Amino acid sequence: MSGTILRGRVLTFVAEPQGAEDHDAYRYIEDGAVVIDGGKIIAVGEWSEALKLAAPKAEVIDHKGKLILPGFIDTHIHYPQMQVVGSYAKDLLEWLNTYTFIEEQRFGDEAHAARIASLFFDELVRYGTTTAAAYCTVHPQSAEAFFAEAEKRNMRMIAGKVMMDRNAPEALCDTPQRGYDDTKRLMEKWDGRGRLHYAITPRFALTSTHEQMEMCQDLAREFPDAYIQTHVNESLGEIAFAKELYPNLPDYVGIYEHYGLLGPKTLLGHCIHMTDREIEAMSETGAVAVFCPTSNLFIGSGLFDRQRMIEGNVRIGVATDIGGGTSYSMLRTLDEGYKVLQLKGQRLSPIESFYMMTLGNARALCLEHKIGSLEVGADADIVVLDAKAVPHMALKMEQVETLSEELFLLQTCGDDRVVVQTYIAGAAAKMKAA
Ligand code: GUN
Ligand code: ZN
Repeated sequence: MSGTILRGRVLTFVAEPQGAEDHDAYRYIEDGAVVIDGGKIIAVGEWSEALKLAAPKAEVIDHKGKLILPGFIDTHIHYPQMQVVGSYAKDLLEWLNTYTFIEEQRFGDEAHAARIASLFFDELVRYGTTTAAAYCTVHPQSAEAFFAEAEKRNMRMIAGKVMMDRNAPEALCDTPQRGYDDTKRLMEKWDGRGRLHYAITPRFALTSTHEQMEMCQDLAREFPDAYIQTHVNESLGEIAFAKELYPNLPDYVGIYEHYGLLGPKTLLGHCIHMTDREIEAMSETGAVAVFCPTSNLFIGSGLFDRQRMIEGNVRIGVATDIGGGTSYSMLRTLDEGYKVLQLKGQRLSPIESFYMMTLGNARALCLEHKIGSLEVGADADIVVLDAKAVPHMALKMEQVETLSEELFLLQTCGDDRVVVQTYIAGAAAKMKAA
């Protein structure tokens, strides 16, 4: 056997949609085929042409009637927080101190980290997510476990060991030198290996000293192509604390700016309470604002202002932020994102949402040449969706007439049940429910 042909309704974005009626932003083939070989997409077209495009003995997998899309991408998630999801707290800082900083201490144990890493990838695949930018804990072994498991599954993943040296329990703190050494060693081992990428990961300004931030700056200078991920402007209490800790810097984004940490591969989680100056700094450097709607609603942090980011020319990603977030599903995430924006009086059309969870997030990660689309040459990371898989959705589908209506139903009511299959580099990866 050489290669695979997926038959179904092929949908892929080619540009960022400018509103609900921008049908030029995507390519849709009603009876289409995606031809895969060697883990890559080698052809896309009409099913009637597919056999001409594929090797003679290619296996055909029939998803007729189902939607075939690029795999979902999650630009901010904490794998060590799988058992933190659904923890009751007053606000971000209480949630971190009461649950998260306790739970993360368990990742000093390699066996625990390996167990959770494996369960984490099972969950991503169940929900159709094929790439994520993930936080590990302060322990290098938590990153080792994550990368080893991602490599075993051949998944394109971005991750980093968190650096933190103050305002956290002793057992979760490194030192500026240890954070630097461990990060450098992990980066040299894993970055660019197979489908893996490293992210320099100071947790946030509150848990790093001036000395640690300087060490992060050294790392960013030595590895200018590496990702940088951190948090900013999530909650008001956090922002007040950041001001106390860095009284001489203009604002919270300005802290990362001061240490040379803003650039096109910088992912800043949350970005809710932003000043105009901070928006300008992000726009000038190309740093990405990562919208985490289920987390922002659950923790009660605030409402992300997408329109202001667009007007300010700030790049945007969207993410689950498990375990502050409450679902692994990018469909559930964009459903909550839609509601956040409704409350802000802003519109988010279904074609914009589906762009955001695929090509939009690939662009946010500077990975659009590899993932996020079904273009020839892209990695064959694919999700297949069925809006009729859930009885009440099948009923509603009787009245759905357009692709946009179907996408909106998938987003509003869908979750893992509508994910028929997830392909990782061309290999079917979703396990049947036990
Ligand atoms: N800010 C710093 N660390 C975290 C975290 O783990 N989750 C969230 N939501 N915000 C943070
Ligand atoms: Zn986070």
